[in-house]
Amino acid sequence: MPAHIIDGKALAEKLRVEIASDVSTFVNETGVTPHLAAVLVGDDPASAVYVRNKERACANVGIGSTLHRLASETTQAELLELIHQLNADDSVHGILVQLPLPAQIHEKAVLDAVSALKDVDAFHPENVGLIVQGRPRFLPCTPCGVQQMLIHQGVQTAGAHAVVIGRSEIVGKPLVNMLMQKGEAANATVTVCHSRTRDLNDITRQADILIAAIGLPLFVKADMVKPGAAVIDVGINRLDGKLVGDVDFDQVREVAGAISPVPGGVGPMTITMLLRNTLTAATLLRK
Ligand code: GUN
Repeated sequence: MPAHIIDGKALAEKLRVEIASDVSTFVNETGVTPHLAAVLVGDDPASAVYVRNKERACANVGIGSTLHRLASETTQAELLELIHQLNADDSVHGILVQLPLPAQIHEKAVLDAVSALKDVDAFHPENVGLIVQGRPRFLPCTPCGVQQMLIHQGVQTAGAHAVVIGRSEIVGKPLVNMLMQKGEAANATVTVCHSRTRDLNDITRQADILIAAIGLPLFVKADMVKPGAAVIDVGINRLDGKLVGDVDFDQVREVAGAISPVPGGVGPMTITMLLRNTLTAATLLRK
């Protein structure tokens, strides 16, 4: 029997209705509209699309947003100056610096400069530390979206073997930490695999939950998946002009118990979690 399809788009829409209601309550109680400042440096077309989608999603739930577009030759000092201004601006609650940044800019230096209280991506070392300690301030958007999909699908994570393919700062590392914590969508036994892992297929075949975040199109094949496993595809790759994930969907859906598609899976959930974090930031900054 083909796998159940985990519809991230539908789940994201449902959660956005709840967030819109929470934003409305917050505005009524405080007179303050949560506001996200997005910073886009350069003219990478994919980044421009992501940022536009984020702005549109903000507007749809009643969150304000401002896009700061900077030229691709912007210096690190100029970008840091903007970050300092946004940190000091009381009308800005969340700051998002779209990645990747141009080569002349040190990504870590910029992400470290974002106020930890406005760090809606949860990239600041202080926020990463809080996640590792199991007392998060903000949950990173994509890993949190993955957890929400597992909850919604009724996937039992407690005691399950979750295998994460990929060790990026944005997805793999935080997700591994979150899945092994105590709590909802957690308590898993977690294995992290990456480009240097030996006998990768032997490990992925043991996964009750398999999360692909390695950035290689159609990397996960049917023979890498345990029958009945829940497979979450975090990849977004362009292949012959088509958007595909890290999982060979057509093959793997014949083996898995549940699978998220690309597009329409993790992507919409990531943006939804950004909206939630922006409201959280506005709430924390009022305290
Ligand atoms: N580029 C790719 N994914 C992300 C993300 O989650 N946040 C930011 N800021 N940039 C990204």
